Amino acid sequence: LVERCCQQLTAEPLLAGVKLLLTAGPTREALDPVRYISNHSSGKMGFALAAAAAELGAAVTLVTGPVNLPTPVGVRRIDVESALQMHEAVMSRIGECDLFIGCAAVADYRPAQVASQKIKKTGDNDQMALSLVKNPDIIAAVGALSDKPFTVGFAAETVDVEQYALDKLRRKRLDMIAANDVSRAGQGFNADDNALTVFWQGGQAALPLADKLTLARHLVALIARHYRP
Ligand code: C5P
Repeated sequence: LVERCCQQLTAEPLLAGVKLLLTAGPTREALDPVRYISNHSSGKMGFALAAAAAELGAAVTLVTGPVNLPTPVGVRRIDVESALQMHEAVMSRIGECDLFIGCAAVADYRPAQVASQKIKKTGDNDQMALSLVKNPDIIAAVGALSDKPFTVGFAAETVDVEQYALDKLRRKRLDMIAANDVSRAGQGFNADDNALTVFWQGGQAALPLADKLTLARHLVALIARHYRP
């Protein structure tokens, strides 16, 4: 609490008056009433970014998939489950925001059909095929808007991190992308620590391994320096 108060009182309000919309956590794609497809995202990085931006004076709205984390002080939280719900929650609010950070690990595909009753195991069925359809790419939809907010994405990669990150920056029309190497033990998905390399048109910065709140403070300060209203 003392640390939080000191941070709040000493942090320069670089984002005062700025409206930030942020996605965090995984999405859950239902198969039937009791099963779903998801991923290992804990939401820790997105929640740390929401806290760090609020410390700098931003008005933060956090759209989050199912996570087990407390809402950061002063942050407005909207809970969703599926990628379609997250897409709707973001697109209905995007016109009101100045900055958008897509930190959620959105499922790329969802089951083509959601069974209304629990899918049963049958004696003669040793295999089961699932048919999946593509989910909307939320951050790409934001990047495609004619008056898009300053948009920051994430790239979680296991190989060729820089190449894939730069490709996403261009393809999704992002202003910045923060890349992390999720193949390294103890950082990235579900871990408490992380390291990032941030790319933008004509520049890059390495943010070394640190706990996610420290890293989030560095990243939000970097974003604040590049953001031009
Ligand atoms: O292409 P990839 O999914 O790896 O890109 C990751 C970035 O795109 C993240 O910022 C993530 O939040 C965003 N994303 C999204 N909607 C999707 C898939 C990814 O907003 N359906």
